[in-house]
Amino acid sequence: MPDIVLDDISSQLDRLRTEVDRALRHYTRFDDGCPELLQSAIRYSLLAPGKRLRPCLVLLAAEACGQRSTTALPAACAVEMIHAYSLIHDDLPAMDDDDMRRGQPTCHRQFDEATAILAGDALLALAFQILAKDIRPPAVAVRCLHELALSAGATQLVGGQVADLTAEFCDLDAQELVAIHRRKTGAMFRVALGLGAMIAEAPVEHIRALNTYGEKLGLAFQITDDLLDVAGEEAELGKRVGKDAGHGKLTYPGLLGVTESRRRAAALIQEACEAATVIGESAAPLLQLAHLVLARKR
Ligand code: IPE
Ligand code: IPE
Ligand code: MG
Ligand code: MG
Ligand code: MG
Repeated sequence: MPDIVLDDISSQLDRLRTEVDRALRHYTRFDDGCPELLQSAIRYSLLAPGKRLRPCLVLLAAEACGQRSTTALPAACAVEMIHAYSLIHDDLPAMDDDDMRRGQPTCHRQFDEATAILAGDALLALAFQILAKDIRPPAVAVRCLHELALSAGATQLVGGQVADLTAEFCDLDAQELVAIHRRKTGAMFRVALGLGAMIAEAPVEHIRALNTYGEKLGLAFQITDDLLDVAGEEAELGKRVGKDAGHGKLTYPGLLGVTESRRRAAALIQEACEAATVIGESAAPLLQLAHLVLARKR
């Protein structure tokens, strides 16, 4: 894919990220009794410099289906809030026990464990509050609430996190690893695309196509996350064990090696793009973004 096209999507993502950040700041101005400490912890983690990939996917999906991105902005924020909560909890000592996130100390390191747990809880609730209040018409809001609850819940994101933790130091095969990734990472990507399409009131085959694109992209994204984890530690420590692998976590490169992991990520990106072509010309930015994910450095 020529660089010029990736430049186009990069500047489009910058524009969407700015919209998302403005809305996230708006939604975290609490003026009705939220304790100062909790507000600080919520903003500290939510507004930290993440890539905002999932909310941008909500907006790009809405645009691909002919809707203005601003209509989907509340859903984009809801998805980023669930993601931010999941990262705060993922970093806790009881889970991955990480000290750094988004280039700064993790929430429980900066504040304390109880505050981090509660900031995550508050973000989870706020996501659903925003969808219920700001997505119109109400029938679309209810569908979005249902889809997001499913994707964030016991069978998807949370279930995947449990499976990820219980799989530590276990001998899984590639299929079992994919099943974990599909839930812990794929589900939020899939729902990001699905919400954008639902808000645009897209035909069911377009919603289905975007769900497939989202799931494949999410799986490829998790492979690249594992590859970056290995590469980062390799550069730092001169060995091929990353932070996650060092915790006894099964990762793609750990299981299949770096070359095969890269090949699988590329194949998934190809499949994601094929799924999205059903939408037509308007899906071009999603295809470009998929290639950006494959080439990402952070
Ligand atoms: C990190 O996601 C967690 C995974 C599912 C791999 P991101 O890499 O998208 O994190 P941010 O939002 O940019 O910080
Ligand atoms: C995080 O996966 C997935 C969720 C938060 C749902 P990881 O544990 O692999 O993400 P990093 O490596 O901490 O960002
Ligand atoms: Mg984890
Ligand atoms: Mg982690
Ligand atoms: Mg990781």
